[in-house]
Amino acid sequence: MDVVFLSPGYPPEMRQYTRGLAEVGARVWGVGDGSLADLGPTARYLSGYLQVPRIMDEDDVIERVSAWLRGRHIDRVLTNWEPLVVLAARMRERWDVPGMRVDTVRGFRDKKLMKDRVAAAGLRVPGAERARSVAGVWAAAERLGFPLVVKPIAGAGSADTYRVGGRQELEAALRRLGHVEEVSVEQYIEGDEFTFDTICIGGRPVFENVAAYLPKPLVARTHEWISPVVITVREMYQPRLLPGIELGRRVLGALGMQDGFTHMEWFLTPSGEAVFGEIGCRPGGACLVDQMNYTIDGDLFREWARAVCWHAFETSTERRYNVAIVFKRALGQGRIRRIEGMEEIRRRHGAWIVEERLLPIGSPRRNWKQTLLSDGYVILRHPEWSEAHRMAFEVAADVTMHASA
Ligand SMILES: Nc1ncnc2c1ncn2[C@@H]1O[C@H](COP(=O)(O)OP(=O)(O)O)[C@@H](O)[C@H]1O
Ligand SMILES: [Mg+2]
Repeated sequence: MDVVFLSPGYPPEMRQYTRGLAEVGARVWGVGDGSLADLGPTARYLSGYLQVPRIMDEDDVIERVSAWLRGRHIDRVLTNWEPLVVLAARMRERWDVPGMRVDTVRGFRDKKLMKDRVAAAGLRVPGAERARSVAGVWAAAERLGFPLVVKPIAGAGSADTYRVGGRQELEAALRRLGHVEEVSVEQYIEGDEFTFDTICIGGRPVFENVAAYLPKPLVARTHEWISPVVITVREMYQPRLLPGIELGRRVLGALGMQDGFTHMEWFLTPSGEAVFGEIGCRPGGACLVDQMNYTIDGDLFREWARAVCWHAFETSTERRYNVAIVFKRALGQGRIRRIEGMEEIRRRHGAWIVEERLLPIGSPRRNWKQTLLSDGYVILRHPEWSEAHRMAFEVAADVTMHASA
């Protein structure tokens, strides 16, 4: 089993998938724009590594990797990083390697195309239009009506995404969107927001997960004082969430999913209806896979590898915990000087805390708009939803990080 794995070292959690591939017996050929030295101990899982000058330059990467691997049979081309999913599909087509083709993968990458395909399958999506000009946005707004969301057609992390309640807010949003070439204009869907995550074999989930966003990502990214919380739902097959799970499974069929991770976001409206948000054919970021691992006490980095290489899945999916992650943002700018409240949390809930990764004193703050990880996070878990929820919001409210120059 010879696997080309794109970007085996970045983002950092890719190192875990590299390990997983090696552990299930694949020979892993890594391709990335970092140096081999940067991979540190991960390098030992690789049979070879090609450093390319620009990993986003698809034509260039394809030429270089073709030359590098000439004469070697390749069984899989894989990546778990969103910006490279189309490149991986182009390589599969070029070398006739099994797996999803470019047209299928575009359905997971282009927000308008994915909505069109999901809607064509009779599933509920927000009304949406694409626009490439200010006039185009206004015309779309006339047809769709307020409130709306305006966002980049290929965005990530809620960047440049705005809820607009009326004409004045749209004018303001348009002034800030000048640098975005193409946007999606959508009906704003009221309600709670959840994920639906899977590992699929032949389009069928062998693992499923639902996590709750508290609050929804757009709100979390609009107010710096919020400590965003995400909790995997232990009892995910509860009646309230079933419409979203059913929607998710049908979306996989509509888009022609084959093997690997998917990460979908969906809305649960006040009337109980599930509405599609977006989907990627890769895992969720910001530690979501760690949360899923803590939920089942498993190693999905490795089981993903087994699924995509050998079409097998060998871990119990019994859900033992609700796993909460709380992202913290410091008060003030500069370096982290003081962390308050964490000792008390440790004293009260120490047994349930599984990871504590707040930035250490003295480190520079991260840009909270650019990284979901913010200034660090705490992961905790509990078999009871209400307890996990309560502890998570204690961390959100009672732990304070202070920064100054
Ligand atoms: N049509 C919509 N209705 C309500 N909220 C939306 C809508 N589209 C996006 N959002 C909000 O904006 C966030 C970011 O949009 P999303 O499409 O997920 O893009 P990204 O790729 O940036 O994650 C969503 O998680 C959700 O909170
Ligand atoms: Mg999203």
